[in-house]
Amino acid sequence: MAASGEWRCDTATVPPGHTATFRLERAGRTVSGFVVNYEGQYRAYVNRCPHVGTPLDLWPNEFFTEDGRALICSTHGALYEPISGRCTAGPCVGDRLTALPLALDGDALVVNLPPLDDPPRSMTA
Ligand code: FES
Repeated sequence: MAASGEWRCDTATVPPGHTATFRLERAGRTVSGFVVNYEGQYRAYVNRCPHVGTPLDLWPNEFFTEDGRALICSTHGALYEPISGRCTAGPCVGDRLTALPLALDGDALVVNLPPLDDPPRSMTA
């Protein structure tokens, strides 16, 4: 399926403790990302570890630690808080995943790629 500047999915397909991946494209820019549902709260992030820049999931759509309390980068094991995106352990402690705008439209999760003059920013929660 071709990537576009907006991605939608039914909330029922991302139950608590699960994630879903997507690709967004606008004006020649492609961003791989994922949505996480942590205890009923949704967040969307760019799938890029701030340490070296690799995707977090060596195995596709595997982002959670075994205990389900954190997101983990499969390359060097950095741990991230699912809601804030803040790195709490590993080689990039204090860095954050880059958040993407996420909205709820009825039963749908909607993620948009911001315009080029408004690049995704890290969350400050
Ligand atoms: S690339 Fe993610 S911890 Fe090193």
